[in-house]
Amino acid sequence: MPRSSYVNGAYIPHKDASVHIEDRGYQLADGVYEVIACIHGHLADERGHLDRLQRSLSELDMNMPVQRNSLQFIMRELLRRNRLSNANIYIQVTRGEAKRDFPYPANSMGPSLVITTWPFQFDNQSKMEEGVKVVTVPDQRWKRPDIKTIALLPQVLAKQKAVEQGAYEAWMVDNEDFVTEGASSNAWIVTRAGTLVTRKATTDILRGVTRTAIDKIRKDLQIEMEERSFTPAESYEAVEAFSTSAVALVTPIIDIDGHKIGSGKPGEVTMRLYDEYISYVNGLRGEQLGWAA
Ligand code: PDD
Repeated sequence: MPRSSYVNGAYIPHKDASVHIEDRGYQLADGVYEVIACIHGHLADERGHLDRLQRSLSELDMNMPVQRNSLQFIMRELLRRNRLSNANIYIQVTRGEAKRDFPYPANSMGPSLVITTWPFQFDNQSKMEEGVKVVTVPDQRWKRPDIKTIALLPQVLAKQKAVEQGAYEAWMVDNEDFVTEGASSNAWIVTRAGTLVTRKATTDILRGVTRTAIDKIRKDLQIEMEERSFTPAESYEAVEAFSTSAVALVTPIIDIDGHKIGSGKPGEVTMRLYDEYISYVNGLRGEQLGWAA
């Protein structure tokens, strides 16, 4: 069976799936997106991702393109058609097709909704066992990275720099020399006292849904957390470091800008949070703690 994707009301063979050249997403990056992991058949933190999609849309004066339960149905139908139970789901909503002009179009065809899925192997990943490298780069984004827009050029350039240096992720650094977040993940360190440190989620970073889940889990495990900024220099001295996202899950970091982190192996706290996060998305912890995903 050929791979299917969803475009504006229809399930289409992936190779034929397209939007018009005057889609405002294509021409102006006028749109938002979400990435949701489906892990062993469970859509990890689906509610959190759909809430954030709705928020991103409303920040751009847009509505959900379809009812929330329709979106939930479409994602499941796409997974079923593609026979996937371990996958990433990509949702993109743009302001749709209209003659190219900057202000919102008076006569648009309505929003475009595109959903794609692709298989993802979550178990036994070498990056979880060995850890990954990170490099720091200047944060060159606009002033509202809390909105998950499809305008990702600064992140493209940042990731390319990382790849060229044999790293998995780029941590972006603001003008005051504080780490904001990863190009596509939130950035965390663990201090000598065993405290988690991650930047406060204001408008200068994306409030990661995985970040929120880790906050709930660490509270239950009685691990201290400080929501504050940290510099690259502080991260070099950390005993552990990790990145979180729907795709990275909880990825251990063993090297930042060529500085070995801790023992140079994935840290104990990181791996514990990874295991707990996996039980959480498998639906175990949620029920147990009364905050089902
Ligand atoms: N990115 N920060 C940025 C800049 C991100 O792009 C992402 C996610 C995160 C983590 O958010 P969450 O935990 O909700 O996935 C933080 C997705 C995975 C992407 O762009 O592919």
